[in-house]
Amino acid sequence: MSSTPEVQAPAKEGFSSRKVFIFAAIGSAVGLGNIWRFPYVAYEGGGGAFIIPYLCALLFAGIPLLYLDYAIGHRYRGSAPLSLRRLGRGAEWLGWWMVLICVIIAIYYASILAWASKYAVLSFTKGWGDDPETYFMHDYLQRAKVPGPTMDFVPEITWTMVIVWVVTIGVLALGVQTGIGRTAVVFIPVLVLAFIVLVIQALTLDGAMEGLNAFFTPDWGALTDGAVWISAVGQIFFSLSVGFGIMITYASYVGRKTDMTGSGAVVAFSNSGFELLAGIGVFAALGFMATTAGTSVGEVLGSGGIGLAFIAFPTIINEAPGGVIIGVLFFVSLLLAGITSLISIVEVIIGAVRDKVGISRLAATFVVGVPIAVISVLMFATTGGLYVLDTMDAFVNSFGIIAVAAVTMLAVTYVFRKLPVLREHLDARSSVKLKGWWPALVAVVVPILLIVMLWQALRDKLDAPYEDYPADLLNVFGWGMVIALPIIAIVLSFIPWRKDVSLEDPTVAVDGGEQS
Ligand code: ALA
Repeated sequence: MSSTPEVQAPAKEGFSSRKVFIFAAIGSAVGLGNIWRFPYVAYEGGGGAFIIPYLCALLFAGIPLLYLDYAIGHRYRGSAPLSLRRLGRGAEWLGWWMVLICVIIAIYYASILAWASKYAVLSFTKGWGDDPETYFMHDYLQRAKVPGPTMDFVPEITWTMVIVWVVTIGVLALGVQTGIGRTAVVFIPVLVLAFIVLVIQALTLDGAMEGLNAFFTPDWGALTDGAVWISAVGQIFFSLSVGFGIMITYASYVGRKTDMTGSGAVVAFSNSGFELLAGIGVFAALGFMATTAGTSVGEVLGSGGIGLAFIAFPTIINEAPGGVIIGVLFFVSLLLAGITSLISIVEVIIGAVRDKVGISRLAATFVVGVPIAVISVLMFATTGGLYVLDTMDAFVNSFGIIAVAAVTMLAVTYVFRKLPVLREHLDARSSVKLKGWWPALVAVVVPILLIVMLWQALRDKLDAPYEDYPADLLNVFGWGMVIALPIIAIVLSFIPWRKDVSLEDPTVAVDGGEQS
C-alpha cells in the first residue's frame, strides 16, 4: 500500500448543486423503512408516546451520526473505504464493513421492490382476490413449508426482480448527476404528491379517526421499556440511511464549500416528516379496516411490516371506496421510495470498487451490479426467499448497522482522534454550528447507547431463536453473516490501492493546511 500519489487521481464525479445532493439524500433516506416499517414500529412502541423516543433518537443519535458521515465523506472525498483510509491508516476496513452491509441489504431490498411492482399492477384489478393473505403467501410467493433456503424458483418473482435490477443498474450506469441526481429530482416530488393524495384519500375513509387515535394515543408505560428506545434508534438509523456508508459516499460528491449541517437538517426533517405522513396515511387506512371488520387496529396490524404492506393493504383496497386509487398510489409510492434507496445502497459498493481498482463508472456498475443482481435473484426469487430475507434483515439491522456505527464512532474519536478536525471542517462551511454538543454525543453518549442496544439484541436473540426459525437458517444467514462481514472487510482492506490514488487528506492539499 503506497500513500504517495504518483499521478493525480482522475476528476471525481459529483452532484451539480446542493439542491440535487439534498434530493438524492432524501431519496436515499425515504424508503421502505418509512412507509411500512415506521407505522408498525411506532404503534408497537406505544403509539403517541413513541414520538418522544423517536424525536430523541433523531436529535441525539440520528442527526449526530448523519453529521459524522457527512464530515467523513465531505472532508476525505471518497467512497467509504477510501474516506476512512484517508482518515487514518487502519480505518479502511470499517469502510469495507459498511460496503458489505450494503451488499446484504441490496440483495434482499430488491425483492421487496419486485413484490411492490407486481402489487402496483395487481391494484388495478384487485388481482389478489378475496383472500390477500393466501394469495401473497401461497399463490404469489409460493412460500416453502419449512423455513430455509430453497432452489425452487418462482418464475414471476424471478423476472420482476430482473426488471428491478435492470432499472437500478441502468440508473447507476448513467452516473452521479445524470443517473442518481436526476432520478431523485424527478421521483421525490412525484412520491410526495402521490403520498399526499393517498393520505387525503385515506383520511376520508370510515373509521380513519379510529386509526389515528390508535396511532397518536400515548401509551406512556412504553416509555419505561428499554426495547422501545432501542427500536426508535434502530428505526432512525435505517430510515435516515446513516451508519452504513451511503451518506459518506453522497457527501463526497458534493461541492467543497457546501453547507453540510444545514443540508443535513433539511434531509433529516424531510425524512421524519415523510415518516409521520406515512404513519397518518397507513393508520387511517387501518382504522377503516378495523371498523369494517368490527375489530381493533391492533388486531389488523397482523404480522408486521411485510404483512402490513402486502396483506393488510390489499384487504383495505378490496373494501374501501376508491380502493383502486389507494392501491395504485400506495404501491407506486413504495416502489418510487424504494428504488431511490436501492440506488443509493448499490452506489456505496460501486464507489468503493471504483476507488480501489480505478475502473470507469460503466465498468464498475456492471462488475458490481451484475453479480449482485444474480446473487439477489438466486437467493430471493425462490420459495424460501421470504425466510432468508426476514433473517438477514433482522440480523443486519440489529447487529451489523449498530455495530459498525459504534465501532466507527469509537475509532474516529479515540484511535484516530479526528473528531476535532471533522467538527472544524463542518463548522467552517456550515450554517448550523456544532460546537461542543456534537463531539459529546458522538464520542460518549451515542456509542454507549449503541453498545447497550447491541447487548440487549444479543440477549434477545440468544434467549429465543428469531421467529423460531431452524438453527441452520439462523446460524448461516443470521449469526454467520454478521460475524463474516467484519472478517471479510479486514481481508479486503489488505488489497493494495491502485497506484494513482492519493491516500492523503485531500482537504489539506486543497485548502493549504486548513484543518484545525
Ligand atoms: N433509508 C432507507 C429506507 O428507509 C434504506 O428504506
